[in-house]
Amino acid sequence: MKKILVTGGAGFIGSHLVRLLVKKYPDTLFVNLDNLTYAGNLANLTDISSEPNYEFVKGDIVDEDFIMATFDAYRFEGVIHLAAESHVDRSIASPKEFIMTNIVGTVNLLNAARFYWKDNFEGKRFYHVSTDEVYGSLGDEGKFLETTPYDPRSPYSASKASSDHLVRAYHHTYGLPVVISNCSNNYGPNQFPEKLIPLILNNIRHNKPLPVYGQGTNIRDWLYVVDHAKAIDLIYQKGINGETYNIGGNNERQNIDIVKTLCRIMDRQLGRPEGDSEKLITYVKDRAGHDLRYAIDATKIYEQLGWQPEVQFNDGFEKTVAWYLENQQWLDEVTSGNYLKYYDKMYRER
Ligand code: NAD
Ligand code: DAU
Repeated sequence: MKKILVTGGAGFIGSHLVRLLVKKYPDTLFVNLDNLTYAGNLANLTDISSEPNYEFVKGDIVDEDFIMATFDAYRFEGVIHLAAESHVDRSIASPKEFIMTNIVGTVNLLNAARFYWKDNFEGKRFYHVSTDEVYGSLGDEGKFLETTPYDPRSPYSASKASSDHLVRAYHHTYGLPVVISNCSNNYGPNQFPEKLIPLILNNIRHNKPLPVYGQGTNIRDWLYVVDHAKAIDLIYQKGINGETYNIGGNNERQNIDIVKTLCRIMDRQLGRPEGDSEKLITYVKDRAGHDLRYAIDATKIYEQLGWQPEVQFNDGFEKTVAWYLENQQWLDEVTSGNYLKYYDKMYRER
């Protein structure tokens, strides 16, 4: 059986990707390697966890010996690397974990792939999943292209940019067959409620203040998570070694519009009077170094591989709100314990 390693498969995007791959390719074994940090949750994968072509391995990508031993045991043909520290605010509060996981962890995987694939790159592929934040911040005009110079501005985006450079360096220097994608903001089920959309949904549910950083005018380009998973599958199958593909939703929104839309949908779904949840909006201290605007030009992946988003924003948003309301136990479980300490620390000073 062909074996593919997926790192970070218990996280938000990783779990949607693993589900898609396990169902679509029954003759390939997908090994989900995840350290189950606060963001990793095996409950995201209960529906496929007993499929014969799925295995879970708990471990840390920063642990070089463990990574080598795992490659030795499985002899993977491919790697799809998503494991990362992913939250910008956490990177501002505590950058070092981001350096360790996102840079050192990526290098450990590159070294293991290089060691075990040596002289035989036929049929092999190392896919690095990255972010549009490596390109920096846009003004009112323009979009990020694959050729846009890197200009990361937070410890998170700097660590992702660094790992992208290393992945490319292993391609140019050692011939490692790599592909990279840089995607815009994802939304959908199973996202940890430290990120804007699930955090706002959870706070509306509990009638808590809705923290909007600065004036709420920063812009993100939103993509439904399953569309991202489909793009990753396509790039893994059809992308060209050494190439980078931008993935985006073509769906730019100001944060305040996202928050107000969520308030409206939640008022309707919870049977609250119209305008009730909007009263909870609270403008708070801005994120340090807050990037103003991200927007992806996804022409390349459309023209070369035929990918474009399938889920329209309104449908995706309705589905997302419905999922969080139907899965309140999931939200309650991930927001107990350490989450409360995190929330208090991050939002007390704002
Ligand atoms: P997430 O934080 O939800 O999940 C990350 C996963 O990685 C978790 O399951 C966690 O347990 C695991 N992990 C963290 N450190 C690890 C370590 N040292 N060893 C093994 N596993 C570890 O993140 P996400 O939002 O699903 O993002 C996945 C990837 O996609 C990341 O590389 C991120 O940079 C990238 N990305 C995310 C977005 C987005 O909008 N969320 C957009 C573009 C790119
Ligand atoms: O662009 C892709 C990136 O999108 C990914 O690489 C990151 O992993 C992912 O976390 C996301 O980064 P952002 O910083 O854009 O996402 P976040 O949900 O943290 O914030 C979205 C916007 O909302 C941002 O402008 C900050 C703002 N915000 C966020 C939070 C958590 C608020 O106004 N209030 C909040 O409480």
